[in-house]
Amino acid sequence: MYSFDIAAGSKAELYRELAGALDSITASEPDPVANMANAAALLWEYLPDLNWAGFYRNIGGELVLGPFQGKVACIRIPFGSGVCGTAAASRETQLIDDVEAFPGHIACDSASRSELVVPIVSQGALIGVLDLDSPSLARFDAGDAAGCEALVAILASRLV
Ligand code: SME
Repeated sequence: MYSFDIAAGSKAELYRELAGALDSITASEPDPVANMANAAALLWEYLPDLNWAGFYRNIGGELVLGPFQGKVACIRIPFGSGVCGTAAASRETQLIDDVEAFPGHIACDSASRSELVVPIVSQGALIGVLDLDSPSLARFDAGDAAGCEALVAILASRLV
C-alpha cells in the first residue's frame, strides 16, 4: 500500500505534492486503467469538498465512464454535451462555479454544485477528461484549474 505525506499549507503546494505523488505511482506502470484508478483515488483522498473525482475516456468519439470515486455516474456522454462533453469538444478546461447555470449540464449526482473538467491530450489526440465535482458552489478556482492541468500533463502520456 502506498502512503503519502501530503499536508500542504497552500493550494499551490498541495498540487505540487499531488504531482509528485502521482508521478511516482504512475511512472513505471504502463496500464492506463490502473493509472486512472490510482489518480482518481489520490485526488479523492487529498482534495477536500468533492463528491466525484474521475475520468471519462474518449472511445470512438464519445466519452465513456472510466475509473472514478463517488456515486454511480452517467456512462456515456456525447462530445459537446454537458460540462465534460464541452471540455472534450473544445479541448479547453471548464471551470464552472454553478453547474445549474451551465446550459446542458448533466446532473449525474444532484448534489453537485460546481465542477472542474480538464481535457487530456496526448500527442495531439484527445484521450479523455478529468472531472471533479463538488457539492459546494464555486469550489474550484484558477489555482485548482492550473493544478489539475499540471496533473493531467504528467498523466497524459501514461493513459494510452
Ligand atoms: N456533470 C457532468 C457529467 C459527469 S458527472 O458529473 C460525473 C457534465 O455535465 O458533463
